[in-house]
Amino acid sequence: MIRPGAPIPRGWFITIEGPDGAGKTTQVERLAVHLRDRGVDVVSTREPGGTWLGERLREVLLARTGSVAPTDALTDAFLFNAARRQLVAEVIEPALSAGRTVLCARFADSTLAYQGYGAGVSLERLRALEAVATDGLRPDLTILLDLPVEAGLTRKAPGDVNRFEAEFDIAFHRRVRQGFLALAVAEPTRFVVIDATRSPDEVTTAVNAPADRLVGSGEPKPFAMRTNQ
Ligand code: TYD
Repeated sequence: MIRPGAPIPRGWFITIEGPDGAGKTTQVERLAVHLRDRGVDVVSTREPGGTWLGERLREVLLARTGSVAPTDALTDAFLFNAARRQLVAEVIEPALSAGRTVLCARFADSTLAYQGYGAGVSLERLRALEAVATDGLRPDLTILLDLPVEAGLTRKAPGDVNRFEAEFDIAFHRRVRQGFLALAVAEPTRFVVIDATRSPDEVTTAVNAPADRLVGSGEPKPFAMRTNQ
């Protein structure tokens, strides 16, 4: 019970990551419903997107380019981080400050995995960009939906294939998957890796468990999660 006038504890920040076709959209929707059923005040959003500007950038970033020269990977990283900055400033940070729990489909780990491990931009440069874009905001929990890239890519309907799925080869997508797994190994307390080859319902059960532990943990809310204040 929060006393009137007492400072509001920060909300939890949960991200769901994974290679293309892992089922993030479905699982974010289901986790939002599950947490709301438990009485948690949830804001659900996605990257790139979640704001007017972010959704415009999403259209540009995901449009298939056809015969146009390929986009430079560092340019991609700037644009994903521009969308991220707007999402943090407009949606995520105000919600967390108001004590709301934020669920986000993809966040900064996607840039490390795709533009870093996948496309070869140095992780050091990407982490510097990320720090500026996010003001040091990091997720409290990251759920990684892992599956073999072939399985993920064949799940997509042909009309629903974005630039990354259409114009990057299978080796790129394998590096992305391995990149996500390397990030998870490096931060085992933040990441939970879930086998996303299972049925959607089994994945949902596996996704709910760490989220329930986090929101039910009663631990002090994480002002300390901000790294560069
Ligand atoms: P996603 O929303 O998962 O696409 P869809 O709903 O079409 O499955 O992600 C969009 C694409 O953008 C995905 O292929 C991964 C890519 N991406 C990056 O390359 N870097 C990033 O920082 C982000 C957030 C996404």
